[in-house]
Amino acid sequence: MDIKNLYKKYSLNTYNRLGPVFVKGKGSYLFDDKGNRYLDMFPGWGVSILGHCHPRIVAVLKKQASTLIHLPNNLFQQEQALLAREIVKNSFPSKVFFSNSGAEAVEGAVKLSRLYGRGNRHEVIAMRNSFHGRTFAALSVTGQEKYKKPFTPILPGCKEAAFNDFSDFVKKVSKKTVAVIIELVQGEGGVNIATTEYIKQLYGYCRQNDILFIVDEVQTGMGRTGKLFCYQNYGISPGIMILSKGLGAGVPIGAFVVAERISNYIKPGLHASTFGGSPLVTAVSLEVFKTIKEEKLLKNVLACGRYLALKLKGLKNITDIISEVRSFGLMTALEINGDSSRIFEACLNYRLIVNATHGNVLRILPALNVTEREIDQAVIILEKVFLEHNKKTRRKTETKT
Ligand SMILES: Cc1ncc(COP(=O)(O)O)c(C=O)c1O
Repeated sequence: MDIKNLYKKYSLNTYNRLGPVFVKGKGSYLFDDKGNRYLDMFPGWGVSILGHCHPRIVAVLKKQASTLIHLPNNLFQQEQALLAREIVKNSFPSKVFFSNSGAEAVEGAVKLSRLYGRGNRHEVIAMRNSFHGRTFAALSVTGQEKYKKPFTPILPGCKEAAFNDFSDFVKKVSKKTVAVIIELVQGEGGVNIATTEYIKQLYGYCRQNDILFIVDEVQTGMGRTGKLFCYQNYGISPGIMILSKGLGAGVPIGAFVVAERISNYIKPGLHASTFGGSPLVTAVSLEVFKTIKEEKLLKNVLACGRYLALKLKGLKNITDIISEVRSFGLMTALEINGDSSRIFEACLNYRLIVNATHGNVLRILPALNVTEREIDQAVIILEKVFLEHNKKTRRKTETKT
């Protein structure tokens, strides 16, 4: 069967797809329909934090699927309550709402900020180069014109401030400002890391001026930066935390976690989701928390994060096209002098999966249980790709001169 042709014929054309047809995954590897093995250093676009088909996730999925899959949210079930408790126990005094995706969780957080503003304040300040999703509120607080422009007018009251620039934020605040939304490490925007000094200033200002501090941990959450949640690296306690991706390690789940002091702004009937927090996905997510703890994955994130960064800095010395290596735990990026999608494609040809984002950034988000051996394999391929790139550019300059 020609799968690619079926996509062409029947799927709405919203994604640029490349490479083979994948049929199987195991740990940090994917297998195509011809039996070829690919090293996946970007598993599930940041979702598959335990690698592909982790045996504990497979086991819990099988067990829960034969016990109870779905239940409407007007009935009680065990797994959702246990997961809410697990999230709160591991973060800050709060209450949890479950959605199915990151954007939906952002949507809920923005709605809650409207309730918090009580009709007097509604403006939300987002950061330039941020990414919060494709639904309308999430898109409106995404600080990238290319995503918003085709869909204008966006939600009113969404403003943008420069990332890591406290004085620009203060300039954007008005009497109507009710919330700020921030990724502490911008993912899609190119792995840009917020400085501690900036976050301390921003957080202090928001507390003083009763501005809700919303952290989007869709990509940074669930251990990616070496702490279970990235805000814990900064010594702050958010008003709202948004989770998704790794929370389910492959099953669709999102959540917004609301500080206890503001949780009573929402009442039954004001927000809901038919599928949100089903027994199936919450049982899996509970297993994700257990696995991170029992397999001591935060330790591995820090050790392998340092190892990967070191290796990538070594690569920077062999090629002119890497201008910067950025890393926080296992959230890693190479800034490229030029188009990073070319490098992504070359890696794919050598059966290595990474990600090209923001035009000139190569993003690497391995599973939390990645090994040094797998990192070595990835770096060998990257080295080959960069050396070939060096040769090509040298040839081009020689023919010009
Ligand atoms: C930081 C961040 N927030 C929100 C989203 C949107 O999540 P979803 O695609 O699940 O709607 C993403 C997706 O990449 C993200 O990286």
